[in-house]
Amino acid sequence: MTVAQAACLESALADGHRLLMTGAPALSVVEAAIRLLEDSGLFNAGRGANRQLDGVRRMDASIMEGCRLRAGAVASIEGIVHPITAARLVMEKTAHVLLVGQSASRFADYFGLVRATRAKRASRPRSPQLTPRAGLSRMLRLHQAIMRTGRIRARSLGKETVGSVALDLAGTVAAGASTGGVDVMLPGRVGDTPLIGCGVYADNEAGAVSMTGWGESIIRVAVAKEISDLLASGLSPVRSANRVLRKVVDRISGAAGVLVLSPDGRFAIRHSTPHMVAGSIGWDGRPVVRGRFA
Ligand code: GLY
Repeated sequence: MTVAQAACLESALADGHRLLMTGAPALSVVEAAIRLLEDSGLFNAGRGANRQLDGVRRMDASIMEGCRLRAGAVASIEGIVHPITAARLVMEKTAHVLLVGQSASRFADYFGLVRATRAKRASRPRSPQLTPRAGLSRMLRLHQAIMRTGRIRARSLGKETVGSVALDLAGTVAAGASTGGVDVMLPGRVGDTPLIGCGVYADNEAGAVSMTGWGESIIRVAVAKEISDLLASGLSPVRSANRVLRKVVDRISGAAGVLVLSPDGRFAIRHSTPHMVAGSIGWDGRPVVRGRFA
């Protein structure tokens, strides 16, 4: 964890606490915290999002609230700084849950979301133009070569998706997440983050869950909903998180980290990855940020 990341998280936690104390809904607090992290460029989301193998940033985000189980998400969205706000707009301005690709980008433009400035690339000698098929073939070969070394997962860890969970004064929980995906991604790859029940879940009768980690493994176990179901059955946040993270590791050699918050304010931050930069803030208003959690 860098000093800048720690300072950014502390500031997001302190802002979130202030908002909650004025009676703001958990949904707005989750969105505000994630916007700050997207803006920072310090994490794998928003301005700092990874690029896919064709050099394009395609981002995923989702948000959910636990009172009426409303949710919104975007996948493969391009050219904006705040995919989390696009996800909230999908939830609040449409009858849908998930918009994807260029249609999601146009939707964000329609609502005037801040556009990312195009980064200037160092000028390199131009390689001869490839046909789309030849371009895909080259990217696929690179992807498969790294896949065979088993290093895709390892290369992706430490490039953290951002997420947030919150409980408001009315007793509603919310969860959100935003990401630039993983390393060595084929164009069009979508991870767990925009998939409700995989990357996030929120239910006032269970709790709020937000995931980071290797998306393919999180999707295959539908981690967020599985943790939510354990919470609903009465298991604590710590035990629910530990049980499902263990399943991800034992059954499919996956890797994940999770924020879990129950409707009575108990929470857990757990990861099967070597590190997870995260923090929490309680009623006392003192942020705690660390790079590892037991
Ligand atoms: N967890 C983020 C991703 O795999 O895309």
